[in-house]
Amino acid sequence: MHTKRPYISHREIYRFDRQWNYKKIDNEHELEMQDDHGWEEITLPHSNVLLPHSDFPVERYQFHSIYKKQFTIDPNKAGQRIRLHFDGAMTVAKVYVNQQKVGVHEGGYTSFTFDITDYVRIGNTNEVLVYLDSTPQKGIPPEGNEVDYLLFGGIYRSAFLEFVSPLYVDDIYLYTENLTDKIATIKGKVALRNAGEKSRSAVVSLQFMAKNGDVQQFLLPEQTVPAKGLVTVEVQLELEDPKRWSLGDPHLYQVKAILQSMDSHLAEDDVEFNFGIRTISVQAGFLEVNGDPVKLLGLNRHQMFPYIGNAAPWRLQRKDAETLKYELGVNYVRTSHYPQDPAFLDACDELGLLVFTELPGWQHIGDEAWQLVALQHLEELIRRDRNHASIFMWGVRINESPDDQDFYQKSNELARSLDPHRLTGGVRNFRDSEWLEDVFTYNDFSMGVLPTANAPQLVTEFAGHMYPAKPYDEEYRLLKHALYHASILNEVRGREDIIGASGWCAFDYNTHSNFGSGSNVCFHGVMDMFRVPKFAGLFYKSQRSPDEEVVLEFATYAVHGSPEHTEIIVQDEENKEFYPRNFAAPLYLFSNCDEVELIVNGATLGKCQPLRDEFPHLSHPPFRFEQRPYKFVGDYLALGYLNGEKVIEKTLQTPQGLSQLKLVVDHDALIADGADMTRLSVYGLDHNGTITPYATRTIQFEITGPGMLIGENPVALEGGRIAVFVKATQEPGIISVLAHASGTEGDSVTIETRPSVEPAM
Ligand code: GAL
Repeated sequence: MHTKRPYISHREIYRFDRQWNYKKIDNEHELEMQDDHGWEEITLPHSNVLLPHSDFPVERYQFHSIYKKQFTIDPNKAGQRIRLHFDGAMTVAKVYVNQQKVGVHEGGYTSFTFDITDYVRIGNTNEVLVYLDSTPQKGIPPEGNEVDYLLFGGIYRSAFLEFVSPLYVDDIYLYTENLTDKIATIKGKVALRNAGEKSRSAVVSLQFMAKNGDVQQFLLPEQTVPAKGLVTVEVQLELEDPKRWSLGDPHLYQVKAILQSMDSHLAEDDVEFNFGIRTISVQAGFLEVNGDPVKLLGLNRHQMFPYIGNAAPWRLQRKDAETLKYELGVNYVRTSHYPQDPAFLDACDELGLLVFTELPGWQHIGDEAWQLVALQHLEELIRRDRNHASIFMWGVRINESPDDQDFYQKSNELARSLDPHRLTGGVRNFRDSEWLEDVFTYNDFSMGVLPTANAPQLVTEFAGHMYPAKPYDEEYRLLKHALYHASILNEVRGREDIIGASGWCAFDYNTHSNFGSGSNVCFHGVMDMFRVPKFAGLFYKSQRSPDEEVVLEFATYAVHGSPEHTEIIVQDEENKEFYPRNFAAPLYLFSNCDEVELIVNGATLGKCQPLRDEFPHLSHPPFRFEQRPYKFVGDYLALGYLNGEKVIEKTLQTPQGLSQLKLVVDHDALIADGADMTRLSVYGLDHNGTITPYATRTIQFEITGPGMLIGENPVALEGGRIAVFVKATQEPGIISVLAHASGTEGDSVTIETRPSVEPAM
């Protein structure tokens, strides 16, 4: 069920994730004295250690380990090239096959492939061994100085083994040069490699299959590829009646490059991938996709998850893209601060979510050797990802680093030579920094939007550390956090010189102790690390069009809480009742309706209009009821109207004390491949079903059937909720999970796991 990618699609490709043996070692010398003790059988993606979701010493993942796996190669594969591909291993991976060193890869965020043909024994058992160093690496970006996120350790993405003919398509890169209603001019390159001893001739045909099944085919000129050589063929073709990739309708063609050799007259290789026909250009105040203006409204995404670090399988990657697009309603994501999982990018292509991706790094530029590794990472990123329709720009500067003309001229040149079609950007945090890119990408923490230093300008971060909010903070803080995002987005939308902005950040994330709140967490997300929205997340959702989904959300818990201001007000002169300011605090709702009515304890507060004067540029400004009623705890009923007609209603009740648990699973069917997993959230509810927003009760899970619980168990509720993951084993069947806590009624869920049909070794 892995997604399609260039280089590795219709050849014989096996997922190489299962039956690895793993063990932690103290140092590289232990490689020589391997014994049979201490091995654990694991499946990739793998985190070298499972961690609590917060509060742990980072040294716990900073160690050396060995992964090894046995495999046999069928004799009918003799003569084929055998390539071993890793999507990501943190941080230095030395790969051995049958005790011979095949190669080393430095850096945990980019993918790498080794040709292992000359190291394997056909028909026999072979062993691949990866010695992995996950200790800090001063010489490899992003390290060298402090970094505001954790790197974690492990072979944390998938691996693949592929068998390919000795004359094969080594690389293919396509882009849309020009687009009209009738014709798309597609340009690019196809690289053919001949691993054989004799020169050979071949033709490549490119098939474009639209979603409706229509196929257009193009034959590239015949090529002679010298022995042990590489030939690059320029592509220029005209596709008729092009179906465009756009944010609203992200049409993807399935492209197949088929190589036919002239001597055998057989199709010897084919490569298949998804391709979107679209143009990208930039004007002073907006991006153009197919010539249509798009204001970029987005968020930054770190790829990490609680407990598993970076080791998230494709389902969680995909779910994050869905969350950004549908639950947070953004049209753009920045993959801060490194290349992310191919499955995440595939989902962005399919869902229509624009991506700004960048090389690994954080504020620090190292010496010349370090810079060479950084440029290598940039090249690996662009070569791997340049066919993704969703990616509109490459980040070619180390996030928030000082100027370095020589280094950044090289990085810009490298990006432009590998991909003349995409924009370059490079995120800086000072406005007079040297501008060498196509777009001036700037982190603006002024809590407003500063005048443009250069145009076109994209605000790549805002808010973040300026006003973090824990999911269990008092509601005024969560509300303020949401309103900061609302006011900055409002300003961005109104500014004709800014092409858009991405808030810091989508999800809370694990970090070092010199950042965040001393708990290894940065609470900068509009969602918590479990991807549960804070009020800010609900605000983002309310910016969606009501044609897609009608949204109406309370930004209150209907509780007294702790007031923001201790200033005392007299609510009732006659009886001399004194209250803190919070009692008079206005009440907010986030909605894309055009009118909202609020009824508290049966009495209407009337209909209210969105705050257009304060947020004139937002598509859907927040709603504010200026004064809470004197008795404001109790029952709330909100009604949302569009064009005078009631289209939605929502209720909220003051929580009455934790009395039951509710389990929610994102996916009730998983693939039994030993890696697939889904989030299991647990909410603490009162007897009405209202979330108890400050409950901290300890939850105990019990799991039966072919599944594993990934997370802390027991675990305490935080802000009335918490989540763990349920992971499939390789056995199909039914998993049941039960959650209970003292003094509450528990809950249970079941998840089915189905056999995997994917070819695997
Ligand atoms: C920025 C940085 C981000 C993150 C953020 C916190 O300066 O680029 O990685 O640290 O601050 O708000």
